[in-house]
Amino acid sequence: MEKILVLDFGGQYNQLIARRVRDQHVYAEVKPFNNFSLSQIKEGGYQGIIFTGGPNSVYDPESPHYDAGILDLGIPVLGICYGAQLLAYMTGGVVSGAENSSEYGKTLLKVKQHALFQDLPEESVCWMSHTDYISSVPEGFQILANTEKCPCAAMANDERKLYGVQFHPEVTHTAYGKQILHNFLFNICECKGDWDAMDYASQAIERYRKELAGKKVLLALSGGVDSSVAALLLHKAIGQNLICVFVDHGLLRKGEGDFVENTFRKTFGVNLIRVNAGGRFLSKLAGVTDPEKKRKIIGEEFIRVFEEEAKKIGHVQVLAQGTIYPDVIESGKGASAVIKSHHNVGGLPDVISFDELIEPLRDFFKDEVRSVGGMLGLPHELVWRQPFPGPGLAVRIIGDITGDKIKILQEADAIFREEVAKAHLEEDPNQYFAVLTNTRTVGVMGDDRTYGYTVALRAVTTDDFMTAEWTRLPFDVLERASSRITNEVADVSRVVYDISSKPPATVEWE
Ligand code: XMP
Repeated sequence: MEKILVLDFGGQYNQLIARRVRDQHVYAEVKPFNNFSLSQIKEGGYQGIIFTGGPNSVYDPESPHYDAGILDLGIPVLGICYGAQLLAYMTGGVVSGAENSSEYGKTLLKVKQHALFQDLPEESVCWMSHTDYISSVPEGFQILANTEKCPCAAMANDERKLYGVQFHPEVTHTAYGKQILHNFLFNICECKGDWDAMDYASQAIERYRKELAGKKVLLALSGGVDSSVAALLLHKAIGQNLICVFVDHGLLRKGEGDFVENTFRKTFGVNLIRVNAGGRFLSKLAGVTDPEKKRKIIGEEFIRVFEEEAKKIGHVQVLAQGTIYPDVIESGKGASAVIKSHHNVGGLPDVISFDELIEPLRDFFKDEVRSVGGMLGLPHELVWRQPFPGPGLAVRIIGDITGDKIKILQEADAIFREEVAKAHLEEDPNQYFAVLTNTRTVGVMGDDRTYGYTVALRAVTTDDFMTAEWTRLPFDVLERASSRITNEVADVSRVVYDISSKPPATVEWE
């Protein structure tokens, strides 16, 4: 299989680069510069290597460097931003820095004719974000592009197949970025582009069919896209030997538990155990108002319920998890690379004894998981399900949680979602939901005074959920949602819209 190595020097776009490469049907994997050796690269059989950007300056003693032997492997290298400066530094060029040489944002790029810039106009827009620049190109390199402030915006040594670009071809603001990456992959690395997420998933199904023959596999199914796709993929491989445990903690959205059960058990014939543990969770949560305590209680209780079910099944040979690639990627930031912990079913392997752990989606990005899910026949609602926190509605009911409050919130939330759907805006905000605030306010209904809850509506637009903008939903959608919620949901007298972005607020209220 053709593979490209994205060697991460701490750049913020490391995953984006890999995704852009995969978009061109070439498999790409991200490895941190400080935890991936030259011999691993040699053994890896890579068609090409991309050095990512990074926040440092190459002369800074703390800055990330790599064994120069990487440039003698005969594998084409493309350095991006810091990666290009590092390449220049490693091959005898000079990198300089000056306040007035920095460029940030969309910049006019002028390119020469070259295989890297095939099908590019002479002038186009690129995305720049740098202070240092290559002031003297290394011997054997030619300058391929420049901008007004940057004398070497791209360089090449065709003999050694070494290339550097100061700008970021992976971001969409670079008008021909996709074409440049395409040119590197196909003109320089001579890739064929025969990788496909579904083919890869089909191969995994075949592999699991053989490797897991006769073994029982246990999976915690949440109804989220990752565990759903992992379940379907394994179901295709081993059928009834896959046992899915779906813990319904009673804090799901309206109708969601039945929907998950029907989809998996009835539509796909998956061996599914649904545990209706709502009462158990509710009694543990009684009177608890502190958000962190709520989360802890739910996390612990979830593990306990799952453990009890696992015990009933007997010895578990294989535990499966829906971990995806971004959860696995180590970051090349700093010397102590940490693997991000997977928090959806956090802690399960510690309490269940099993012989083997499998993660069928660990090589896939979220969009690839979705496309595999769609091809496996997963309903659109599940494939495009918006993120839903593990603790569920518990973190959307401010203050203590009661059965009545859960019902009120489920109804209000369902109305809001219906109104967003009616306006065909489901794919506009990346997440939207209702919150039951702990505030009662005075209202009037007919001639009567009411004193009901305040429901808050929240909708956010975001790429990564690390930062988020509140979504400018049309007023008439908000109006209809508000009017329906106050009319149709008993004990709600007021609806407000949350207009805080993240930061300083978070997406969830708790
Ligand atoms: P915050 O509130 O931190 O949320 O801005 C960012 C994203 O993460 C989701 N979220 C969670 N997901 N377990 C999860 O699996 C959790 O405990 C949790 N808390 C927040 C949130 O819905 C949003 O998409």
